[in-house]
Amino acid sequence: MSGALDGRRIGFIGAGAMARALAGGLARTGIAAGHIRAGDPDPEQRRLFEQEVGADAEDDNASVVRESDAVVLSVKPGVVGTVLDDLAGVPHLDRPLWISIAAGVTLESLGERLPGGARIVRAMPNTPALVGAGATAYCANAASQTADRAMADALFEAVGTVWQAPNEGMLDAVTGLSGSGPAYVFLLLEALADAGVRVGLPRDAAHQLACQTVHGATRLAIETGRHPASLKDQVTSPGGTTIAGLEQLEAAGFRSALYRAVAAATTRSRELSRS
Ligand SMILES: NC(=O)c1ccc[n+]([C@@H]2O[C@H](COP(=O)([O-])OP(=O)(O)OC[C@H]3O[C@@H](n4cnc5c(N)ncnc54)[C@H](OP(=O)(O)O)[C@@H]3O)[C@@H](O)[C@H]2O)c1
Repeated sequence: MSGALDGRRIGFIGAGAMARALAGGLARTGIAAGHIRAGDPDPEQRRLFEQEVGADAEDDNASVVRESDAVVLSVKPGVVGTVLDDLAGVPHLDRPLWISIAAGVTLESLGERLPGGARIVRAMPNTPALVGAGATAYCANAASQTADRAMADALFEAVGTVWQAPNEGMLDAVTGLSGSGPAYVFLLLEALADAGVRVGLPRDAAHQLACQTVHGATRLAIETGRHPASLKDQVTSPGGTTIAGLEQLEAAGFRSALYRAVAAATTRSRELSRS
């Protein structure tokens, strides 16, 4: 278990899919079930939380806040304001570390609804966190301390990798790359499988080969630490099959399509954060 979360109590406001993924990750790292809890008005979400995480869920957000050293705001972005307004009468709201995973909700808007001096982290995880393979970036406000950032690191490392962004503005770029990125990869998987069917493979085999190829190539890049260009060169023999395929991807603007996709999603994230 990570030292940063040793003995700390972690509460989740909202017991939905992301809360269950994070809390489940914490439980797997050895955090005692009695140190994890969630608040959610929906009995079905509470039942799922208790079943999947093995920790208590209740219909009382204030009690979760009182009993937690870190509170993870894991409700939909549109509900964050109401949740914090409803908690306004709870004493010592500046005691726990607040960690919001609500997309587009800024540190400033969170700070306006919490007492001055509250320590706040704004994080952007992605859906592979649901299977423990997420990529999260976060930014902490000025009041937060080294121990708070260590807690945020430990929380998100329980479901994948984590990167501390040097400024909040970068979280829009993170949204454009790793937040929206799983959808780009799903499109790639679908297209690769369709392309396999086009050249005569059975659908199931094409899907399996496409998924394993993306998974295996990704693992190779991560585990060897080698630059993707070097790994690509290694499988590209002169006059061979791979260079023939790569020529078509270059002609179709594969790289520049990805540049444009990440830039467009980043711009959209900025627009949504402002509205
Ligand atoms: N899923 C992802 O991959 C992902 C990635 C990055 C960021 N996020 C962020 O993570 C947050 C949660 O996403 P999610 O996919 O886990 O959503 P979700 O499954 O809909 O979970 C949100 C939960 O909050 C509950 N809730 C609503 N009002 C509440 C209140 N007043 N107090 C306590 N709980 C309340 C909802 O109950 P009801 O079902 O009754 O509404 C639901 O159980 C969102 O802000 C999203 O932007 C998610």
